[in-house]
Amino acid sequence: MTRRGWIGGNWKLHNTVAESVDLAQGVRRRLEGASGKVEVVLGPVFTALWSVSEVLQGCDIQLMGQDLFYEQGGAYTGAVSGPHVRSAGCQYVLVGHSERRQYFGETVASTHLRLKAALASDLIPVLCIGETLEQREQGATEAVLEEQLLGALGDVSPEGLQGWVIAYEPVWAIGTGHAATEQQAQEAHGFIRALLRRRDVAWGDATRVVYGGSVKPQNAGGFLAQPDVDGALVGGASLKVEDFAAIVEQAS
Ligand code: PGA
Repeated sequence: MTRRGWIGGNWKLHNTVAESVDLAQGVRRRLEGASGKVEVVLGPVFTALWSVSEVLQGCDIQLMGQDLFYEQGGAYTGAVSGPHVRSAGCQYVLVGHSERRQYFGETVASTHLRLKAALASDLIPVLCIGETLEQREQGATEAVLEEQLLGALGDVSPEGLQGWVIAYEPVWAIGTGHAATEQQAQEAHGFIRALLRRRDVAWGDATRVVYGGSVKPQNAGGFLAQPDVDGALVGGASLKVEDFAAIVEQAS
């Protein structure tokens, strides 16, 4: 089973519109002509999505929203929903990033609603799951991953989730400089794939599971060499053209 590599840049709450456009132009220039073996995805703040989508016109770099509200529209001040993310030019959307869970009260139940909302708006979800340090130390990693994954899925069928992406992001590795080891990543990815295969073997084999948490040019190759690691969700290192391009090149 060959799965197309996937490298996403999660820009988080960084960069104004002008800065986002600059960064996207830099990434485009740097990766122009790079082989299409790996899918490259950029995730700016909501307010920069449309401008960045214009920068990416005519090239195969894709655009990703960092979140979506699960209602489509209505009296929800401050929210941004699937149709808005889609119409701003996105193909992908993050669901359940641990920073959303930590700071914005997202729960397993709300990730399920968001996953369904993404599909309803023709967006490909990138579901983020991962354990905290405390949970890992308690030996609860697999239980947490299972709860977050199966809870987000609920009754959503594998047919609706072709081409989607799961990001395994141990919370303790995000933005800390302490990445998981390659073995820890492979173990978690293998476990996640086994959960998917339990529901549908072909789907489990086809789903891309990417690693996130302090990925840098220096450690990316080691993760990408693991049999069940299909790419990376990159935060800090995605804010520098050279670092991000170096990671993409290792995946190509
Ligand atoms: P990081 O973030 O690469 O800065 O650790 C990854 C993420 O949160 O997606």
